[in-house]
Amino acid sequence: MSSQTVLHLPSRESWTNLTESQEPIPTAGKHEVLIKIRSVALNFRDIAISTGHYPFPVKEQVVPGSDAAGDIVNVGEGVSDLQEGDKVMVAFDLATMYGPIKGWANSLGGPVDGVLREYIVVPAQAVVKIPESSSLSYAQWASVVCTGATAWNALYGNLPLRPGHSVLFLGTGGVSITGLVLAKAAGATTIITSSSDEKLRLVKEKYGVDHTINYQTTPNWAAEVQKITNGKGVDYILETCGAGTIQQSIDAIAYGGIISVIGFLAETSQEEMPNVAALVIGKGAVVRGIMIGSKQLLEEAVRFIGARDLPVPVEKTFQFRRDQVVEAYEYLASGQHVGKVCIEF
Ligand SMILES: NC(=O)c1ccc[n+]([C@@H]2O[C@H](COP(=O)([O-])OP(=O)(O)OC[C@H]3O[C@@H](n4cnc5c(N)ncnc54)[C@H](OP(=O)(O)O)[C@@H]3O)[C@@H](O)[C@H]2O)c1
Repeated sequence: MSSQTVLHLPSRESWTNLTESQEPIPTAGKHEVLIKIRSVALNFRDIAISTGHYPFPVKEQVVPGSDAAGDIVNVGEGVSDLQEGDKVMVAFDLATMYGPIKGWANSLGGPVDGVLREYIVVPAQAVVKIPESSSLSYAQWASVVCTGATAWNALYGNLPLRPGHSVLFLGTGGVSITGLVLAKAAGATTIITSSSDEKLRLVKEKYGVDHTINYQTTPNWAAEVQKITNGKGVDYILETCGAGTIQQSIDAIAYGGIISVIGFLAETSQEEMPNVAALVIGKGAVVRGIMIGSKQLLEEAVRFIGARDLPVPVEKTFQFRRDQVVEAYEYLASGQHVGKVCIEF
């Protein structure tokens, strides 16, 4: 077989505009590898990109998708530490091996063509091996690429989580549930919010979260967090919602606690935007912006997850056919999921 199916996004109004084409399978050049993709994990970012709401540059006719796991099928000249048959994933940013990611110029599925295709050539330096002993699926490992590295960065990238700390997660999306799995495994006390009692029940049953709060029926969820923590507040918050929730996050954080600002799921008007500087000073809190994570952070997350085959939260998978991929985008955008939505090849 010399051709492969590739999906492109010709315009950024809707994921329903995705097109399918047949294109040659590339070969690996010097210091590159060719990967046969087995699974792709979707992110909220893919929805934002496909609808023109992503605030960073996106390539024309981009091949969307950033997170893939698969098998190496061809190794280019000069690659010594990888071989055909290795099970691997590709780091979200192809150029940042360690330290902070400096801008979005090298990220897959945005400025660089991504992974919604059967085969991809990538620089060998961006590849992370899946632990040989792992019984997790390709979908689970694909889900670690962006979401896992981001959650790991929030918990360990700077001021590391310690046993006995408490962590709050906002909503039951991919970053929150993956962060929950990591924090539980590290012995933290965990609290999660959701708009749905049914989702909260599921998260308790399946992932063992310690405390749940429905943010629809308990709109002042920060006060509830204070109650749960006996007035201390939480040590960490994975702030996936942004301007619309930051006031309550600061209310919920412990003095000197750490708020990792990750996402923008809940916006607010300029007029309603709180005075974050004053509020943060009043809590002595650390507010830290998160940009995914380097290859080094991804490798640390992979090692931790692989050591115990932690239950990376893949909720639903779809097949790699244009109509099924469109359905997967729709499912993710509908917010019905708890954890990750993936494509199987
Ligand atoms: N900075 C980075 O490096 C980075 C990396 C990854 C993701 N992100 C960003 O982080 C955010 C989360 O990503 P994700 O992939 O986890 O998204 P996701 O899987 O699509 O999560 C969506 C869930 O968030 C919850 N949610 C929505 N609005 C909420 C609100 N006002 N309050 C509380 N929960 C709310 C809902 O959960 P319930 O249905 O349970 O209410 C919803 O189902 C996105 O903005 C994404 O772009 C940033």
